[in-house]
Amino acid sequence: MSDVFDFSGRTVFVAGGTSGINLGVARAFARAGASVAVLSRTPDKVRAAVDSLGECGVTALGFVADVRDYEAVAEGLAATCTELGELDVLVSGAAGNFPAATESMSARAFGAVVDIDLKGTFNVLRAAREHLRTPGASVITISAPQSTVPMTLQAHACAAKAGVDMLTKVAALEWAAAGIRVNAVVPGPIEDTEGMGRLAPTPELSELVARSVPLGRYGTAQEIADCCLWLASPYATYVNGAVIPVDGGWSLGGASEVFTAMRNLLAG
Ligand code: HXC
Ligand code: NAP
Repeated sequence: MSDVFDFSGRTVFVAGGTSGINLGVARAFARAGASVAVLSRTPDKVRAAVDSLGECGVTALGFVADVRDYEAVAEGLAATCTELGELDVLVSGAAGNFPAATESMSARAFGAVVDIDLKGTFNVLRAAREHLRTPGASVITISAPQSTVPMTLQAHACAAKAGVDMLTKVAALEWAAAGIRVNAVVPGPIEDTEGMGRLAPTPELSELVARSVPLGRYGTAQEIADCCLWLASPYATYVNGAVIPVDGGWSLGGASEVFTAMRNLLAG
């Protein structure tokens, strides 16, 4: 059980919740007593995530689906609500990323990231809307510093996550009347994640990133989960349409420069 928050009797759905930061968020809600459902593409990852959530002693469900497939996402959400009731918390965090220069990135590569990150987030929010508890549901999108900080090799993610932030704010405006709050959490570089493994693949690059964060270190999935727990808790009931960096101050300075330095290093 979480030391601070109690989500017993609540239902949480995490799209892309089978690894990394999002699994950390799903596990934090499960440890706080919530029933949790996760969805992603890979059957083995879905099975492992459900097992790990179940170890927290709560009901856990898993669905295999690609967020680019609206009908499949809608089916997973409907099945969750049939089993567990209306959603108290929706987290949308599925994303894809790889470093690629704009002049050599293919149109399909750009489109793949926009389709997963931005259109996938729309699909998840749109399909979940009818299942959200009114009033009271909390919707959390997982953005990235790329949404506000231009970074070399990141045209696809910068464009997609900027869209995620704006989609979050529009949904916050539209759904407030129903008592649904919608906010974005913006992780900085988080240790032991697929995302940072792809963007800073060597110990040297990883150290460069850590030094570029004002707090001088990577964050943890737990630190992102803590913000999500707070946003969904009774301590954040007037927070709506916020885009909240949890990044050690990285987006204030350092985030853009380190990508330029990494591009130069990679170019030799
Ligand atoms: C250039 C690449 C590429 C690469 C793929 N492509 N990888 N181009 N460099 N490293 C191109 C392919 O050649 C293809 O274009 C197009 O992208 C689509 O590739 P597919 O493999 O067919 O796509 P798909 O199977 O849909 O996979 C999506 C994916 C993949 C994004 C490409 O990497 C993925 O599934 N990622 C999910 C896991 C992940 O990335 N996690 C990290 C999230 S971290 P062509 O033209 O050849 O057909 C994050 C933010 C981190 O989001 C922020 C840190 C600060
Ligand atoms: P990760 O472990 O790769 O997590 C991505 C999750 O989304 C996985 O569960 C993955 O499972 C799922 N997913 C990917 N594409 C999908 C699709 N098309 N349909 C359904 N599910 C899909 O990556 P992470 O590094 O922890 O990142 C998690 C989130 O945090 C992302 O939104 C990312 O943009 C954000 N973020 C990360 C960092 C960081 O430091 N890592 C920093 C800022 C923001 P499957 O492969 O099984 O589909």
